[in-house]
Amino acid sequence: MATDVGDVLETSDRRRAGASGKVTLTLRIRRYNPELRGEESWWDEFTIQADPNDRLLDALHEVKWHHDGTLALRRSCAHGICGSDAVMVNGRNRLACKVLVRDIAPKATVEPIRGLPVLKDLIVDMEPFFEGYRSVLPYLINDEGEPDRERLQSPEERQRYDDTTKCILCACCTTSCPIFWGDEGYVGPAAIVQAHRFIFDSRDRGARERLQILADKTGVFRCRTTFNCTDACPRGIEVTKAIQEVKREILLDRF
Ligand code: SF4
Ligand code: SF4
Ligand code: FES
Repeated sequence: MATDVGDVLETSDRRRAGASGKVTLTLRIRRYNPELRGEESWWDEFTIQADPNDRLLDALHEVKWHHDGTLALRRSCAHGICGSDAVMVNGRNRLACKVLVRDIAPKATVEPIRGLPVLKDLIVDMEPFFEGYRSVLPYLINDEGEPDRERLQSPEERQRYDDTTKCILCACCTTSCPIFWGDEGYVGPAAIVQAHRFIFDSRDRGARERLQILADKTGVFRCRTTFNCTDACPRGIEVTKAIQEVKREILLDRF
């Protein structure tokens, strides 16, 4: 049987890569550049050699620095803390700096997160996301005057909202939510997580105001409990559970 030239080249590529400990990774990246090509997006493919323990972010850097300098992406810390490099990888929202090459090689698709306007390539306009965040008053509210010393809190009181303190505002949850995609008015799960973090803080006095905001038509009752947000959260926050807890507070009218 005749051997296909493509197979031979692929095998020899694999041998070379194996000798250096590297693997071949083909990234299929959705591109968008209104200055260059108008409103149409398109796909570009880049094949690189990468260490299996590199992160997808390293691979994207490799593409940008050595293959196509026009590729636009956002990132800062590169260690899962700043939340700025959320992208859709093989259809799932992930932080590019927390995805290992070995888990996606030999081929992966990378797209911008959904539901926010794309500015260029993998960069989206986060303003609508932060608008929802600001709307729930995501800061400590207490007008009881300055205390003489710190506001004390028991370990149990602190534990009550521990999970939602882990949020890094990456938008993976909100941009995986079908209700957010379809309804620009919905504040989205990340904003509710932020509200939860203060509503259940024993030192805070702004819960009633926040719950009134979230009882509105753009608030928690838009949620259809599909759990996409919980599955998408790179910090392992029980997002849907937090939303349910806020719904319950509104229904019980405890504040
Ligand atoms: S559980 Fe609610 S907020 Fe989360 S993805 Fe589903 S509809 Fe959206
Ligand atoms: S709840 Fe999780 S997924 Fe949503 S913004 Fe916060 S860290 Fe990101
Ligand atoms: S670059 Fe900061 S979380 Fe990935």
